[in-house]
Amino acid sequence: MKKFLKYVAVAFVAVLLVACGAKGGGESGSGKTYNVGVAIYKFDDNFMTLYREELERYFGELSKKTGNKYVLDIQDGKQDQATQTEQINNFIAQGKDVILANLVDPTAAGSIINSAKSADIPVVLINREPEVSELEIWPGKTTYVGADATQSGTFQGEIIAATDSKGDLNGDGVVNYITLFGDPANVDAQQRTAYSVKALDDAGIKRKALAEPYLANWDTAKGQEVTASALEQFGDKLEVVFANNDGMAVGAVTAIKAAKRTVGKDILVVGVDAIPDAMELLTKGELTGTVLNDHFNQSHTAANVAVDLMNGKDVESYYWVDYVKVTKKEDSQLKEAKPKTETTKEAKERYAKRDK
Ligand code: BGC
Repeated sequence: MKKFLKYVAVAFVAVLLVACGAKGGGESGSGKTYNVGVAIYKFDDNFMTLYREELERYFGELSKKTGNKYVLDIQDGKQDQATQTEQINNFIAQGKDVILANLVDPTAAGSIINSAKSADIPVVLINREPEVSELEIWPGKTTYVGADATQSGTFQGEIIAATDSKGDLNGDGVVNYITLFGDPANVDAQQRTAYSVKALDDAGIKRKALAEPYLANWDTAKGQEVTASALEQFGDKLEVVFANNDGMAVGAVTAIKAAKRTVGKDILVVGVDAIPDAMELLTKGELTGTVLNDHFNQSHTAANVAVDLMNGKDVESYYWVDYVKVTKKEDSQLKEAKPKTETTKEAKERYAKRDK
């Protein structure tokens, strides 16, 4: 009898192992182990650090909640697409259950999706929006989780338009501005640059760019450097600094202080992200405003979608998390929000209308 029971027990465990091993690799405790490859464009980025840390924390929470084990392998792409492609190819060779990718160069999406598809590994693209056509390569198994950059640009312009001076601090009837540009390959940079000033146009505010957008690579030191030289060149003429992100906005504020000018009084600065450094300046009145780039809901959505994919489900092509306008501390509070989904067909129609 004892021997028989032992056989039953062994058979039971074997059945369990087969059932659990069907998807998600090895077994751990009562649940399954899932291997998640995460490729970040570079670790040394304020916003993506917030995102990455929240993603890790949230997967930990999911592990506790479900009894499954999510093993994250997070790689630093060091802002080099060749390095990152190699990291992603390793994920594919190792047979990860899903890949989350914050691409260095979003135009690499197509070839990466094709490689992952041939190994049957679903892909969640995050933070850097690819072309719609790339999401059509493997529908259901590839998705973009992000935020609509046009919204963040619009909010930046609206923040300026809502100030007492409407950005025209010297009262000459025109808003003279510069833009600190993130990265030419990044949709967030392109659209924030265009939509921040479009919001001024839409509000009937006259504007003049004092220079072509300054390339500052999302970087604080670079933001400081280019703002310092713009201040030197344009002096009191410069009224508004639109920074594609807070990192560069924080650098701009440092340059403005060094030039003995005062944010709010004789110059306005607006960023995007609501990173802690920017929130500190904003609380002191040294930053006009920012826009919350909601890393909290973006990372949770990316993880939830990844879990669905690892469970063999098909997912939607887009998951959009809203930006939030921030002119006071409370505005940047993180709270659970439901993302909006969109199909590639809907996105194409929306973009065609928008870009007309
Ligand atoms: C953020 C930037 C960040 C970039 C990285 C943008 O959405 O606003 O701060 O550097 O993503 O791709």
